[in-house]
Amino acid sequence: MTETTEAPVPVGASANTRKVFIKTYGCQMNVYDSQRMGDALAKDGYEPTETIEDADLVLLNTCHIRERAAEKVYSELGRIRLIKAERHSQGREFRVGVTGCVAQAEGREIIARAPVVDLVVGPQTYHRLPEALARVARGDKVVDTDYAVEDKFDHLPNTSDRQIRARGVTAFLTVQEGCDKFCTFCVVPYTRGSEVSRPFAGIVEEARRLADSGVREVTLLGQNVNAWAGEDAAGRPVGLAGLLRALAEIPGIARLRYTTSHPRDMDAELIRAHADLESLMPYLHLPVQSGSDRILKAMNRRHTADDYLRLVETIRAARPDIAMSGDFIVGFPGETEEDFDATMRLVVEIGYASAFSFKYSPRPGTPGADMDDHVDEAVKSERLQRLQALLRVQQDRFAASLVGQTIPVLVEKPGRYAHQLVGRSPFLQPVVLPAGAGAIGEIVDVTIESTLPNSLMATGAGIEAGRKVA
Ligand code: 5AD
Ligand code: SF4
Repeated sequence: MTETTEAPVPVGASANTRKVFIKTYGCQMNVYDSQRMGDALAKDGYEPTETIEDADLVLLNTCHIRERAAEKVYSELGRIRLIKAERHSQGREFRVGVTGCVAQAEGREIIARAPVVDLVVGPQTYHRLPEALARVARGDKVVDTDYAVEDKFDHLPNTSDRQIRARGVTAFLTVQEGCDKFCTFCVVPYTRGSEVSRPFAGIVEEARRLADSGVREVTLLGQNVNAWAGEDAAGRPVGLAGLLRALAEIPGIARLRYTTSHPRDMDAELIRAHADLESLMPYLHLPVQSGSDRILKAMNRRHTADDYLRLVETIRAARPDIAMSGDFIVGFPGETEEDFDATMRLVVEIGYASAFSFKYSPRPGTPGADMDDHVDEAVKSERLQRLQALLRVQQDRFAASLVGQTIPVLVEKPGRYAHQLVGRSPFLQPVVLPAGAGAIGEIVDVTIESTLPNSLMATGAGIEAGRKVA
């Protein structure tokens, strides 16, 4: 999944005076989880705060996908240690928790390395946070990293009404968790466990409640979201395509997206849904990681570069305007200059609208970490630079191709200046549009006038405010 910035995630409020600060690292699933943790804690009397200095409880909802992500957590804990010492000198309570994937991967080790930490709770046990805190209050250090994903989907509160109101017009909805693919670079199968799908009825119910409170765009989340499987209301087996079709029927939901997908699980039915469903946005994040068959094999991706190229061809035949996005890793063990060239060639052939690229980072416990022929950091950096320069050109070219076109934009929030609003294009690009072009929550047709490095500027011309979509 795409990483987010590290903005604190506002959580639920209550009458009590205890305050929790949740800092979210990593992907959108962590953002969703932070919101659910906030809901679980609101029941326990915790109000949200956006500053650490205000908080009685600090939770770092962590990411373990690459080394830098995990190291950031430890440096933050160093800062928190000073705050805790100051609080204790004032005789005040201050609890510190580590949640998320670093918690799952390192467990008790975290407390050994950072004794400031009072509780370590893995992604499958957030619903037990209030119990864990009660034990901490009795003087225990708590480590709860059991796998109980079914429990999690059963027990976690649905998005609360308060959360929904706070959220605006777009929302994430976790439908699947875990991964059985075991790519040799990846910690996800170890931190999030094996694939579990949330039941159909619960998803539809939550989506309805989101729609009722004004959400217009829902992004279904899963580490391997195409592997979602369930039974529809009539008891028939359905996959992600069936789920999307059901969600598309919900009045008010105008836009659907899903992330992240594995190429092997892009089945014909899902591709057909891209052709049929107007509300399924023409944007697909389909990581390939490398363009070299040798490296793809070593990564255990279980497809070739050619399989991927043909798959994208099929998807584009179904939905010609689809914007492709991807993830790439450079410098996987054994990657030669030739292998890297194959990645560059694949990028040229596909033409990405956006992409994320990373230097390979050995993760303890994954097969990749134990492979021979690790690539020099300097070589990784140099390859990453070349790849990112090419991806930048492609992203700019895609954005420029929209100049002069009229496209539907979902208006999300006020812009930086009073005369502006900000929305999203169907292709997930932020669009700055003139205030008065439409209201928040509406989908309006705007004409793209120019591009900025990561957004589009629209004029008032061509606007049909309030175009009805659902
Ligand atoms: N090193 C570098 N990048 C990684 N990713 C996952 N594991 C690693 C790793 N060990 C990248 C992949 C994945 C994205 C979420 O993060 O590209 O698709
Ligand atoms: Fe990691 Fe591969 Fe699973 Fe994606 S498909 S979460 S990269 S193991």
